[in-house]
Amino acid sequence: MTKSISHNRERGRASFLEAMSRVASTVSIVTTDGPAGRAALTVSSLVSVSADSPLPTVLVCINKSSAACPVILSNGAFCANVLREDQQHIADIFAGRTGHVGEDRFVAANWAKGTSGAPQLVDPLASLDCRVTHSDLVGAHHVIFAEVQSLCIGSREQPLIYANRAYGTTAPLASKPDVLVAKAA
Ligand SMILES: Cc1cc2nc3c(=O)[nH]c(=O)nc-3n(C[C@H](O)[C@H](O)[C@H](O)COP(=O)(O)O)c2cc1C
Repeated sequence: MTKSISHNRERGRASFLEAMSRVASTVSIVTTDGPAGRAALTVSSLVSVSADSPLPTVLVCINKSSAACPVILSNGAFCANVLREDQQHIADIFAGRTGHVGEDRFVAANWAKGTSGAPQLVDPLASLDCRVTHSDLVGAHHVIFAEVQSLCIGSREQPLIYANRAYGTTAPLASKPDVLVAKAA
């Protein structure tokens, strides 16, 4: 069912969010530490931009109203910690769903210090320690571009996924039998 967005702004926004809730994403904890302090939040907007820029580049979209946003921008660095399927509890804590705030959130896991000084999960699927290059404010979100300075790759396990407003995980599809292509008579 096609829904026009432009006709009714409010309904358009709700339809957009409903449509986007069907997009499955991995879940990461974006952390930062530095002169502006230590902070972190849960995100599903971590995206690879290019491996062919001077240094590999990623972006993440962070709501300007989140407490962590000004700290990340001021420190100019962050570490994106990609979560495994069994790390949902960490995602909930840094999403503000458990009532933990500020420093209390960090009790959720064990942390090392990344190259930028940002907290790096000791057992992520992968973590990317990044230096912010620039950011654009689009609506309520800062689109933050960053160069990957160092990374850590964990064991190949199932990622935590967020889709249809719920956590899930990936299950490899059964490999399809070779499809026989009927030769044209
Ligand atoms: C699965 C999931 C994905 C999220 N993705 C984002 C995101 O990409 N960007 C964002 O700004 N907030 C995102 N949030 C919301 C923030 O994690 C939440 O608002 C956070 O608590 C903000 O930090 P604060 O409590 O320190 O202000 C997400 C929340 C969940 C549960």
